[in-house]
Amino acid sequence: MEQTLSIIKPDGVKKNVIGEVILRFEKAGMRVAAIKMTTLTRRQAEAFYVVHKERPFYQSLVDFMVSGPLVLMILEGKDAIKKVREIMGATNPAEAAEGTIRKDFADSIEANVVHGSDATDTAAYETSYFFSVFETFNRG
Ligand code: CMP
Repeated sequence: MEQTLSIIKPDGVKKNVIGEVILRFEKAGMRVAAIKMTTLTRRQAEAFYVVHKERPFYQSLVDFMVSGPLVLMILEGKDAIKKVREIMGATNPAEAAEGTIRKDFADSIEANVVHGSDATDTAAYETSYFFSVFETFNRG
C-alpha cells in the first residue's frame, strides 16, 4: 500500500467536480485516507511549490492556488503515486490522454484541476505537509 497527496485545485472546486474527481480515483481502487476542504495562505502555497520558485509561472501559480477553496486528500492504494498520476493525465490538458481528469475538465496548464505527488519522497513530504497522523486513516 502506498499513499500520495492529491489536491482538487480551486478551479476544480469552482467547476463543482469534487465528487467526479474522487469517484474516478475510487473506481481505480484508491481509498481516501484523509480529506479536508480549506484555503491556503500565500505562504503555504509558496512553500508547497518552492521547487518551482525560479520558474516564470511561479507567482501566477501561487495566485491561482490561493484564489479559492481547494480539497486536500491523501489517497491510498497499490501503486497510488503512479496510478493517481495516470488518472489525472498530463500536466498540460492539451497533451492529456482521453478519459483523464485533466483532458475532461482542465482549462490550461496552470488551471489543471488536480495535483498528485510525483515520487515517493515528494509524496511523504506533501502528505505530512497538510495532514497529521491523527487526521490520517489506513484504509487498506
Ligand atoms: P502540478 O502538478 O500541481 O505541479 C506544478 C503546477 O504548476 C502544475 O500542476 C500546474 O498547475 C503549474 N504549471 C506547470 N507548468 C506550468 C506552466 N508551464 N505554466 C503555468 N503553470 C504551470
